[in-house]
Amino acid sequence: MMDLAGKVVVITGASRGIGAGLAKECIARGMKVSVCARSVPDVDKGDNILAIAADVVDAAAVQSLADQTIDKFGQIDLWVNNAGVLPPISPLRDCSTSDMLAHLNVNIMGVFHGTKSFVNHVRSRPGEGVLINISSGASTSAYEGWGAYCASKAAVDRLTEVVDLEEKDEGLRAYAIAPGIIDTDMQSLIRGCDETQFPMVEKFRELKRDKAFSSLEFVARELLKAAFDQDNRPETVCVRLPSEND
Ligand SMILES: NC(=O)c1ccc[n+]([C@@H]2O[C@H](COP(=O)([O-])OP(=O)(O)OC[C@H]3O[C@@H](n4cnc5c(N)ncnc54)[C@H](OP(=O)(O)O)[C@@H]3O)[C@@H](O)[C@H]2O)c1
Repeated sequence: MMDLAGKVVVITGASRGIGAGLAKECIARGMKVSVCARSVPDVDKGDNILAIAADVVDAAAVQSLADQTIDKFGQIDLWVNNAGVLPPISPLRDCSTSDMLAHLNVNIMGVFHGTKSFVNHVRSRPGEGVLINISSGASTSAYEGWGAYCASKAAVDRLTEVVDLEEKDEGLRAYAIAPGIIDTDMQSLIRGCDETQFPMVEKFRELKRDKAFSSLEFVARELLKAAFDQDNRPETVCVRLPSEND
């Protein structure tokens, strides 16, 4: 197992689900871990942990997350833009402008804010930095009822490819990683949809019946491998994790 003790990671959206699972794995490995969600994530307490409330929609709050992390831990080695939402789930003809904007603000502007804060940090200090923006299979496939989500995750992929081009000579490695299917609150929300909102809902209920999910631990380990394992560096900016069950 790679020795990651002392590496500094920032994870947005770490109050539950994939972000909380990643934070737990990082803490277990002795990393210095800085996390946020809209309310303070309930993680272990300790000198190696900083947990704050920050809404990724708010650029100043995200910059403050970066600044507080650097003040406490000296620098940031890995930044994971994980915070994301799925709604509105309904045909585009029924999506309100305000619901659409609220979604795009979290899933695109939130990723932009984290990316910008981290890139400027990496440029301000010597050495490498790794950016992981959490994407989805929905970035490359269209699903009826997921217009907002498919559009925002496609935007995450392109934004990440652009920042890779812009910053790779400045020490940044950037990845947009689709984590697979993990049984978080987001999946419960999907299974609770009716078919008029989301015609493919039955397929997701089947996944639950078949227990066809990757675990939080598996995803956390794969993300850390992509970030730090020299022998397992992804060859492309946009990456799709294998399913744990493959
Ligand atoms: N689960 C899957 O199968 C799956 C598949 C593909 C991609 N993904 C992606 O993986 C990421 C995590 O998904 P998940 O399944 O773990 O979702 P989740 O269980 O719903 O957790 C989402 C996290 O994001 C936080 N969050 C939401 N809006 C935020 C905001 N404006 N500012 C700060 N934090 C915010 C939530 O905390 P608060 O609500 O407390 O703020 C929570 O901690 C998302 O980007 C999602 O699109 C998930």
